Formats: sequence, structure tokens, C-alpha cells
Amino acid sequence: MHTLSPTFAALERKLQRHVRALCQGTRVRPRGRELAMTDCWINMMPRGVTHGLHLHPLSTISGTYYVRTPRGVPGLKLEDPRLDRFMAAPPRRSDARPDNRPWVTMPLRPVRVLLFESWLRHEVPPNPVKSERVSISFNFSWF
Ligand SMILES: [Fe+2]
Repeated sequence: MHTLSPTFAALERKLQRHVRALCQGTRVRPRGRELAMTDCWINMMPRGVTHGLHLHPLSTISGTYYVRTPRGVPGLKLEDPRLDRFMAAPPRRSDARPDNRPWVTMPLRPVRVLLFESWLRHEVPPNPVKSERVSISFNFSWF
């Protein structure tokens, strides 16, 4: 969409700044190459619609720009990548720090961007409310 629409091209430029900041903050350095948006799509999710656990292969940084997040819609659920090593691990208290939980749900707010490295598995839980959840998702890559 960013290659066809000036509106989405402008969004790409704005997102590029956030992606650069994430790379600086996490010390990601794609060896002199610039991360570029490779995919961009709109998610329109009415009641009951979900997007199961997945990751974004062949991408480096993925994210979502939230356009419309009706009250009551659950956030984006991120899976701890160590989950397959938690065999026989004791249950976590409900007040455990986010980095000690097997799942963390990021609350959604409109006009907010969430970025994450593309290998991180995540899911969009079902929308339980009548209003539609609308967002724009994208991938950035350096190859
Ligand atoms: Fe995703």
C-alpha cells in the first residue's frame, strides 16, 4: 500500500523514525543497510475476529499502528520466546514483572504504534465488542 498510496507513503516515513529509534535502543544494526518497509496492510476486525499465534518470517521489525480500538478490545498478546524452556517451571504470580511472564498483553490505544522484532510470536485475541477494531500492520526488513 505504501508504494501505491501517498497517504501510506507518508505513514511509512513517519514509521521509519520509530523503527530507527527502536534499532538504536535495542542495538540492532543491519550492517550499514537501511531498514525499509516491505509490507503494509489494513486489519478490519469486527466482533469475534481473531488472528492466531504467528510471527513474521523474512522480516526484521514488525508493528501495528492502531487506528480504532473500541473500549473493551483486548491488547496484542506477546509470547515469551523462552516459553519452550519453561518445562516444570513454577506458576508465576499475577503480579510478576512482565519479563517474568509467559505472555504479556500490550494495551491498545488509538493513534499508537507498537513495534517488535519480527521473530516474536504474537496473537490478536478475539474482538468481543460490537465495534470494529481497525489497525495498519507492517514489516520492515534490511534485505
Ligand atoms: Fe502479526
